[in-house]
Amino acid sequence: MTTARTTVKPPGSAPAGLGVTRRRDRWWIAPGIQAALFTTLATYLFFSGIVWTPLFGTAYEVDGYLSPLFSPLIAPGWLPSFISPGLLILWIPLGFRATCYYYRKAYYRFSFADPPGCAVGEPTIHRGYKMETAFPFILQNFHRYFLYLAFIPLFFLWIDAFGALVPASGPRIGLGNVLFFVNVVLLSGFSLSCNSLRHLAGGRLDCFSCSRRAKVQYSLWQRLTSLNRHHMAWAWVSFISVSLVDVYVRLLALGILVDPAIRL
Ligand code: FES
Repeated sequence: MTTARTTVKPPGSAPAGLGVTRRRDRWWIAPGIQAALFTTLATYLFFSGIVWTPLFGTAYEVDGYLSPLFSPLIAPGWLPSFISPGLLILWIPLGFRATCYYYRKAYYRFSFADPPGCAVGEPTIHRGYKMETAFPFILQNFHRYFLYLAFIPLFFLWIDAFGALVPASGPRIGLGNVLFFVNVVLLSGFSLSCNSLRHLAGGRLDCFSCSRRAKVQYSLWQRLTSLNRHHMAWAWVSFISVSLVDVYVRLLALGILVDPAIRL
């Protein structure tokens, strides 16, 4: 949890004023690409998960392929037709990603220019900003709890991936099955590479070799650390894969695509 309550800049910090910097590289390329990709995917997922089904009745499941945005499917009879079943589960992955340390860095940069890049000046309007010690950004500290919850839909996504091999129409291995497994592996990589999980495994240990339990924790911490080194990559590829799998299921449901499959 962030505890600093002052916004006084330490010596050697970036020059004052938005975009003012001594850097000579094209530092704005990465935040620019991230902003475009994030906005595109987030907008698509919002419409697909929450808006389309109530508005147009678009199917999110076809021949054993359930869109990952709706898994686990919770569609009780009392749910009004203007509320998407996706809404009942999407708040978990949404909260998990929105509070992720990596995404925070990315969207603080491209949305709030706070700062826009390392050693790049930020707007002076941010001087009264209390960082993550005040509402609403103090809510970022719920990340660990979203991590616990995130394993629930992840567990069901693994069940969906295996279940899609044996739909009611008979066993098959189709392109959709491959995409489902790739997607769930990438989503697992994202969750397992989480900073909070790594801390949970071994972050509070003072001695890694003082007991058998500490050694086991150390070994786990090492494995999670190797995943954590690539957390940014896991974040992006899993974000892209979950969107593409949803697009694939939607196109199958609309009859625009046919799933190439070997039927057994
Ligand atoms: S830090 Fe990114 S998911 Fe936890």
